[in-house]
Formats: sequence, structure tokens, C-alpha cells
Amino acid sequence: MSKRVLVTAGGSGIGKAMAETFAAEGARVLVTDMDESALAGCPDSWLKMTGDASDPGHMRDVFARIADEWGGIDVVCANAGIAGPTALVEDVEPEDFRRCVAVNLEGAFLAAKFAAPMMKAQKSGVILITSSSAGLYGFPNRAPYASAKWAEIGLMKTLAMELGPHGIRANAIAPGCVEGPRIDGVIAREAIAKGTTPEIIRAGYEAGVSMRSFVTAQDIANMAVFLASDGARLVSGQVIAVDGHTENPDPKV
Ligand SMILES: NC(=O)c1ccc[n+]([C@@H]2O[C@H](COP(=O)([O-])OP(=O)(O)OC[C@H]3O[C@@H](n4cnc5c(N)ncnc54)[C@H](O)[C@@H]3O)[C@@H](O)[C@H]2O)c1
Repeated sequence: MSKRVLVTAGGSGIGKAMAETFAAEGARVLVTDMDESALAGCPDSWLKMTGDASDPGHMRDVFARIADEWGGIDVVCANAGIAGPTALVEDVEPEDFRRCVAVNLEGAFLAAKFAAPMMKAQKSGVILITSSSAGLYGFPNRAPYASAKWAEIGLMKTLAMELGPHGIRANAIAPGCVEGPRIDGVIAREAIAKGTTPEIIRAGYEAGVSMRSFVTAQDIANMAVFLASDGARLVSGQVIAVDGHTENPDPKV
């Protein structure tokens, strides 16, 4: 029986790579995204729903559709997240802080909240939260994001404890810098905040990583597929970094 997989924010970036990789393994996938045009670019064989992963009504609808179409769910990739503002804490607007926490943390909470009863009823399931290297270290100029990504790990550890006795696993993946437009934007904003160039910021990030490399969305997707597999049947409550090993998260450039 093929796996039934939900990926939030699966219309592009890491989420799309996850959905593609699960689908290549024979899974049925449902992807959600706020951006309708991103979903339009996804294969017709996928189920798609447009909406905000931090909206409880939307997420309730997503799980109602999952119940109708599939009668259960095997893997939930709570992947939606936004970078939030780049500024010192004193300069962050409260509504920007709240929005960043809402998409990253509440999005993961809602996915888990609606998945849990379904997974408990079937006595199986895997919840994967996309956290970040920012959930393992402090991150100057990115307090909202680091706060949300650390909190996602607290959520994941608690899910692992609440749901483990029901045969359900929860883990978090902590990607490092992922090649793509999002990290380019993060680097550009940080360069402005620090009064330097994007090239210098990027070189600093690379220098802080043992493998001296950014990762790809495919590297993250490969880990998601492994964590959802029977090969990881007793891996739960863990944060798995896929980052080339972060040595120094804040190289002073
Ligand atoms: N890109 C990186 O370098 C990086 C590094 C570490 C962790 N992450 C985390 O990985 C996850 C995915 O990141 P990405 O780089 O693929 O993102 P991205 O910025 O490339 O966006 C991917 C998709 O998310 C959708 N999206 C944004 N907000 C949404 C919302 N509220 N509800 C539904 N869809 C929404 C966008 O429309 C887009 O199609 C996030 O949780 C992010 O924090 C990313």
C-alpha cells in the first residue's frame, strides 16, 4: 500500500522536493501552498490545496480532505515557514515577530494537532517538522525565526512523547543554508543590515560549515524519505541536521 503524504508549503522549494521524492517512491501526495501559481506548476497526479498553513480553518479542511480521499495519513511534513524580518530585536515590529512565529510554529502545531487523532486511530504515522540550523543556535538579526525554529523542536519532542506510545514517530530536520532564491534573499537582507556585500555574507556562511557548502532541497527531501521509512522505525524525538556540519553559525564578517 503506497504511503499517504501531506507536505505543507509543497508548491516550491524544500516542500516540493519532498513531495517529488515521496512521489518517486510511489507515495500519494497532497501539497498545500499559499501560492496558487506554485501549485499549478506541480504534477496533476498530486492533490493540491491552496491556503495558509497557519490558518486553523484551512488546516481543518486539509485533514477533512485527507479523511475523504485516503481515510488516513502516513506522513505529515510540517514544512511551511517564512524567514521573517532581518533586524535587531529592538527594531523588530511585534506583528512581524508574530507572523514569523505563526507560520513556522503554529503551522507545525496545526498540522500535528489534526494529524494526531487520525494517526492514533490507525496506530501509526510519522510527523516531520522542517526546523533549521537557526533552531540549534542563536542567530543575530533573526530573533523571530530562531525563536520559532527552536520552539518547533520543543513541539516535536513533546509530540514524540505524547504519540510514541501510539506507534507514531516525530522528528525534526534542521537544514543548513539551502541553495535557492530564499537563501539569496536572506543573504541580501543580511548584507544590508551589516553594511557589506552578499558575496561576503555567503562566504561567511560557507566558512562556518565544515563541508564548506550549502545544501540542496534534494538533500533535505532524501532525509525526509529516510525518516519516514521503516529503516528509521525507532528514530523519534530527534533533530537531524542536514547542513554539512555547522561549526560556527555566526562568522563575524
Ligand atoms: N531555504 C533555506 O535555506 C532553509 C534553511 C533552513 C530551514 N528552512 C525551512 O524549510 C522550510 C521550507 O523552506 P523553503 O526554503 O522551501 O521555503 P520557500 O521560501 O522557498 O517557500 C516555499 C513555499 O512556501 C509557501 N508558503 C510560504 N508561506 C506559506 C504559508 N503560510 N502557508 C502555506 N504555504 C506557504 C510559498 O508560497 C512557497 O511556495 C521552511 O520551514 C524554512 O524555514 C529553509
